[in-house]
Amino acid sequence: MPAEKVLIVDDEKLVRWTLRQKCEEWGYQVLEADNGAAGLRMVHNETPDCVLLDVRLPDVTGLQVLDQLKQTGEMPRAVIMITADARVDDVKSAIKLGAYDFVEKAPDFHDALEVTIKNALEATRLRTELETLRGEVRRRSGFHDVVGVSPKMTDLMNFVRKVASSEATTILIQGESGTGKDLIAKAIHYQSRRQDRPFVPINCSAIPETLMEAELFGHERGAFTDARDRREGCFELAHGGTLLLDEVAEMQPGIQVKFLRVLQEGSFRRLGGKSEIKVDVRVVAATNKDPIAAIRDGALREDFYYRLNVFSLSVPPLRQRIEDIPLIVTGLVEEFNGKYDRRILGVDDAALKILMSHAWPGNVRELRNVVERAFIACEGDVITAKVLPAISLATVSTAWSGNADALTVPMGLPLRDVAKQFVLRTLAAENNNKTHAADRLDISVKTLHNMLRRWGLLHPTTSSSGPGSVP
Ligand SMILES: Nc1ncnc2c1ncn2[C@@H]1O[C@H](COP(=O)(O)OP(=O)(O)O)[C@@H](O)[C@H]1O
Ligand SMILES: [Mg+2]
Repeated sequence: MPAEKVLIVDDEKLVRWTLRQKCEEWGYQVLEADNGAAGLRMVHNETPDCVLLDVRLPDVTGLQVLDQLKQTGEMPRAVIMITADARVDDVKSAIKLGAYDFVEKAPDFHDALEVTIKNALEATRLRTELETLRGEVRRRSGFHDVVGVSPKMTDLMNFVRKVASSEATTILIQGESGTGKDLIAKAIHYQSRRQDRPFVPINCSAIPETLMEAELFGHERGAFTDARDRREGCFELAHGGTLLLDEVAEMQPGIQVKFLRVLQEGSFRRLGGKSEIKVDVRVVAATNKDPIAAIRDGALREDFYYRLNVFSLSVPPLRQRIEDIPLIVTGLVEEFNGKYDRRILGVDDAALKILMSHAWPGNVRELRNVVERAFIACEGDVITAKVLPAISLATVSTAWSGNADALTVPMGLPLRDVAKQFVLRTLAAENNNKTHAADRLDISVKTLHNMLRRWGLLHPTTSSSGPGSVP
C-alpha cells in the first residue's frame, strides 16, 4: 500500500515544518499549503487522505475551507482541525461540517495528533473495506437485495441460478406489479457469465414507437430531424450483457416485429445506417400482464411471445409467501436506518402481525412504502402498530402462527370470524382465484360468493384474475 498523503494547511512556517517532520516520521507523505485557497487547490489536485487544517488562516477561516470542501464534494477521508485556542463553538461547527476531530496546539500535542490521524484514517479504511466486501458478496451471490426464505422464493432463486448460467438468450419474467421482477432480472444478470458487462433496462410502456426504435437501435447522424449526432441504442450498449425489456406487453406491435427480427438474426441496423451490427445480448423481458390474455387482446404478438418465452419465470405475489415478510421488513428497516441516519431496531410483534395479515395487492413495493412511512413516523427505537399507516381493509387474517399454510386463531373468537379468516386466507393463497379457493375449501363457488357478499367483500369487477400460469 502506498503511503497515505497528509496535507498541512497552516500559515505559520514553523508549525508546518514541525508537523512535516512528525508526519514523515509516522510514515505519511506530506504536502503543505500556507493559506485556504492554496489548500483547496491542493485538495483538488492531489486528493490527500488527511488534511490538518488550521482554524485561523490569512485569507479565510478553516471552517470556510471545510464548508467549501463539503459543497464541492471533495471532502478528503479525514479532516483534523488544529488550533491554538479551541473554542467550543468552532469545535461544534467543524464537526458538523464533517471534520473528524479537533486537536489543540498544546506543547505536547504531537502524541495526541499521531493517534488522531491514525484513528481517522483507520475508520474510513474500515468503512470502505466493508463496502467493497459487501459489494463483493452481492456480486458473488448475484442476489443483490432479493430477500426470501419461503419455499416459493427459494425455488425461484434456484431456478434463477439455472437459467442464468444457461445459454438461453431470451427469458420471460411474469409477476404482479411490485413483486420484484426488476430485482430478479438483475439477479439473472449478475449470476451469469455476463455479469461484468452492462445491464441495460428499458421501459417499453413509457416510450412512443418512433422514439423507441431510436432507443433500441440507435441512429446515425441526420437519420431524422433531431439526430444531430450518431447515437448508440440499447442493443449496442448492452453488447455482451443483458437487456431488460420492462412492461414488454405494452410494446408497440410494430416494434415487436422489428425486435423479433433482431432476435432471430442476431444483428440490426442503426436508424439511417447501412451496415448490419452484430450483437451478443441476452434479453430478459418482464410483464405484469398475463401474456396469453395480452395475445388474445392483440397487444402482444404471438410469434414474439414464443420467441421470448424460451424460459419463463413467475414471481409469486407477496400474499403467497407471507413468511418472507419478517425478513424483508428487517432488511427495509436496515436500509432506512442508513438513509435517514436512525437506529431503529425493528418492528414489534403487534405491528408485524398486522403486516403479515395484509393481502398486499401492491406487493413488496407497497410493503416498502408502508414500512418507510411507519419508519418516518416512529419516534422510539421500535416500530409499533400505532405508527403504521392505515392499511386498506384487504387484510387477510389477524392471527399469524409462523407457518404460511397454518392459521391459528385466539380462543373465544366467534365461529363466523374464524370461518371468515380461514376463507380469506385461502382466497389469498389462491391468488384470489375463487374456483381454486372453493376447490380447496371443498365448497361450491356459489357458496363462496354468498359468503363474500355477506361480508361485503364481493366487488362486481373482481373475477379470478392474477397472473395465469403459462405453459
Ligand atoms: N424479495 C425482495 N426483497 C427485498 N426487496 C424486494 C423484494 N422484491 C421486491 N423488493 C423491492 O420492492 C420494490 C419493487 O420491486 P421491483 O423489482 O421494482 O418490482 P416489479 O418490477 O415486479 O414491479 C423495489 O423497491 C424492490 O427493491
Ligand atoms: Mg418493474
